[in-house]
Amino acid sequence: MENKIREVPAQLASSAYINKENYQTLYKQSIDNPDLFWAEQASQFITWFSPWKTVQSGDFKTLDIRWFIDGKLNASYNCIDRHLKERKDQIAILWQGDNPNESSTLTYQQLYEKVCHFANVLKNLGIKKGDRICIYLPMIPEIAIAMLACTRIGAIHSVVFSAFSPDSLSARILDADCRLLITADEGVRGGKKNPLKSHADKALEKCPNVKHVIVVKRTGTAIPWNQKRDLWYHEELENADAECTPEKMDSDDPLFILYTSGSTGSPKGILHSTGGYLVYAAMTHKFVFNYQPGDIYWCTADIGWITGHSYVIYGPLLNGATTLLFEGVPHYPTFARFWEIVDQYKVNIFYTAPTAIRALHKEGDQWVKKTSRKSLKILGTVGEPINPDAWEWYYRVIGNEHCPIVDTWWQTETGGIMITPFPGATPLKPGSVSWPFFGVLPLVVDEQGNPVEDGKVGKLIIKKPWPGLMKTIYGDQQRFKETYFKEIPGNYLTGDGADRDKEGYFWIVGRNDDVIKVSGHRIGSGELEAVLNSHASVAESAVVGAPDEIKGNIIYAFVTLKSGIQPNDQLKKELIQLIKDEIGPHAIIGTIQWAKDLPKTRSGKIMRRLLRKIACNELTDLGDTSTLADPGVVDDLVGERKK
Ligand code: WTA
Repeated sequence: MENKIREVPAQLASSAYINKENYQTLYKQSIDNPDLFWAEQASQFITWFSPWKTVQSGDFKTLDIRWFIDGKLNASYNCIDRHLKERKDQIAILWQGDNPNESSTLTYQQLYEKVCHFANVLKNLGIKKGDRICIYLPMIPEIAIAMLACTRIGAIHSVVFSAFSPDSLSARILDADCRLLITADEGVRGGKKNPLKSHADKALEKCPNVKHVIVVKRTGTAIPWNQKRDLWYHEELENADAECTPEKMDSDDPLFILYTSGSTGSPKGILHSTGGYLVYAAMTHKFVFNYQPGDIYWCTADIGWITGHSYVIYGPLLNGATTLLFEGVPHYPTFARFWEIVDQYKVNIFYTAPTAIRALHKEGDQWVKKTSRKSLKILGTVGEPINPDAWEWYYRVIGNEHCPIVDTWWQTETGGIMITPFPGATPLKPGSVSWPFFGVLPLVVDEQGNPVEDGKVGKLIIKKPWPGLMKTIYGDQQRFKETYFKEIPGNYLTGDGADRDKEGYFWIVGRNDDVIKVSGHRIGSGELEAVLNSHASVAESAVVGAPDEIKGNIIYAFVTLKSGIQPNDQLKKELIQLIKDEIGPHAIIGTIQWAKDLPKTRSGKIMRRLLRKIACNELTDLGDTSTLADPGVVDDLVGERKK
């Protein structure tokens, strides 16, 4: 474990909202007197149509947790309307296309107008409060407009990452029973086109309840058109009214659903409700990034993931920031792309994933050194553990040793950042996610839920509710209870392994369930196995993560073929393609190992712990294999691995 402390640059410490002195006091208040603390935050960060009567009710036993009870508010009003008086001409969304010559801006006034028009388009199509709308769009301004328009009329958006396959899209549309889909003709990333409308058409073959598809013209390519169902975004917008009164939503009303992978079964529709989520997104954005009015803020995450929801859209817009939306990738047209954009727009706050940092680090400093990056003040990272090597490069080369790095730990379920350094307050330790955010009570425990000694790895749990916590799994409260609250009763189980050092710094080890983080993307082994097992030649499969220098992890699949079928390279290619087609290109398999058999206990359970060791090439100490039904299976697997 790395334990070198980096002090925060002095000029920042003086301007930071949170400093060494007030962090401890505020943290203590947030834990000792949460109602008072959160009441203050909620009135500071959100404009309410009518105030809440009770700050919070429910706990991790009853699981009917509510925040800011009876408060009324609207997300789009908070993200847009209330800023108009002071900053209607300030840029809200700065869009940089994949092609360096393509860009556009939307001021707060323009965003207001577009959102109102589009909200009326939705209304004209019969969309009402509580209806679910699926958004399958690339990183273009219309994705922000669509999300905010939904919230304006109280519709619940469900954004599906635009790289997902037609099958993944239809599964998500069906689970949430969406009424309408918003997509584009094509997406553009890294110079390549993504045929979104064709994917959507294919997905919708299985979704009879989607009555309308609104299509944004991104590239203008010819696309198939269903006269009865499809509508052009730009045409509908022209015919819609300009005024749209924001719906008064209850604090506990759903704001959005976002699907994420779990250990087993199909992806879970994580449901966030309005009041708590918005308070938490706004507050974490301001304090963690030390956001100051006028800052140019850039989070590189795709809006298809939670980081994009909370820190490209909601957090920054709630704080009246200029948020940069980037359509492209870090390596196109060259490895200097990120830093050129930073210089071009004088970005002050930059938030990305360790996998991007590692990939760019590998290409050498020359790409970075061509740029000045003088505007940068704060750097952030999220999504997976960052190795101290990559941290050092980010700090030294990208930030010129004057930008603190906030390594932020959180999850789709937590709504916002949970454990993080505070720039200006936290002496940094490369590789550690540092201290809990206000109101967050994390603990590292053993299998029985007893706290482990400092320095020992255990399960990371959270002991008390906080406003950003998900409301439930859409349509499945039982699964919500069982996934997060059953194993260590009365606590929220994160699914991560972690330890805390003697100075109270948290270190995340990684997932300790069957979720794999590949390039920061969250993928469930169960979903991958279901696809592999659907292939005619496959008898069964087990998928685990194996470490990778750039991607953090790769997908490592053990595959057993049906009797009589010989392993061959063609079959490997087919299986890799199958995963790409059925899930999406971000779920690419790194390695397939043929397995005569899989190691199973006498009760028939696959011993994944063993498979993880084999995938990681840790072959000398495989641990206790005495409970296996056939220990000989292991020798075959090890033999095959060594080949
Ligand atoms: C991992 C992403 C180490 C963790 C916001 C968590 C991290 C999962 C960090 C959630 C970090 C996130 N250091 N690991 N700073 N941030 N993780 O739902 O395993 O896509 O459980 O949300 O990412 O992934 P999700």
